[in-house]
Amino acid sequence: MFEQLKRRWKVNSLNLLLVICTFAIGGSLCGYFGRRILLMTGLEKGLSWIVLYIIIMTLVWPFCVLLVSLPLGQFSFFKQYLGKIGQRMFQKKSKKVNVAIFASGAGSNADKIIEHLHQGDIRDRNAVVKLIVCDKPGAGVLEVARRNGIESLIIDRDRFFNGDHYLPVFHKHEIDFIVLAGFLWKVPPQLIAAYPEKMINIHPALLPKFGGKGMYGSKVHEAVIAAGEKESGITIHFVDELYDHGKIIQQATCAVAEDETPESLAVKIHELEHRHFPETVERLLNVK
Ligand code: GAR
Repeated sequence: MFEQLKRRWKVNSLNLLLVICTFAIGGSLCGYFGRRILLMTGLEKGLSWIVLYIIIMTLVWPFCVLLVSLPLGQFSFFKQYLGKIGQRMFQKKSKKVNVAIFASGAGSNADKIIEHLHQGDIRDRNAVVKLIVCDKPGAGVLEVARRNGIESLIIDRDRFFNGDHYLPVFHKHEIDFIVLAGFLWKVPPQLIAAYPEKMINIHPALLPKFGGKGMYGSKVHEAVIAAGEKESGITIHFVDELYDHGKIIQQATCAVAEDETPESLAVKIHELEHRHFPETVERLLNVK
């Protein structure tokens, strides 16, 4: 339980102890003040006494814990903590943005996006990855979904291309935004039309070079090296009806060394993807 609290409040053991002490001392102080105030009203014990006591406790408690947090060095923690409680009580709830990630492979990008969007308290999240969509049974990304407690969907080629394109499933899950993170099938036009500027892809090269049908994973890196490029990188773009083609949102580059191999380039590219993709997704979701 203490480990859980440490993770949730992002504190070390000593600070956790001081936070618990602040709660305990602040709570007692609040009880003391509450009773003193009620004595001054001269009210007899009864229902109205209890109601007034609860009201006074609610109003006085934040001041008491803030007061106690000062000598215990926990003021900034409690300022933030009380701020969040206030936000939850008074802020109009904005709808969470539901994201689906489509992937065919190991799912390292999916993992990083989930880690980024799902950090912090579940109640404070404005975007959630609701569904992992995969075309390959046994792909690593399905394990990523399982580990993060996210529902996964293995899609069937016929239904994806010639059937209803799974649109009813995405609507049922209220999916607002689709991220292709190493998804190798072309997306059918009907699905693209259902998510205008709400579907993005990442490509492991600097488009428009080295994109198109058959250009994925190590094939891209082999082509970059064979062409003698001095630079490669990543491209994040909106999805349109052509392979690796829509409007470019962001690119980031890395050098291609003289002795570069497809494997070493893949490591550099993954590093770039993991650094930029989650933040770009968050920015596009407009949820920060
Ligand atoms: C990523 O490098 C991504 O750019 C690439 O597949 C990899 C998936 O890695 N996508 C394409 O090649 C699309 N044309 P991951 O499964 O570890 O996220």
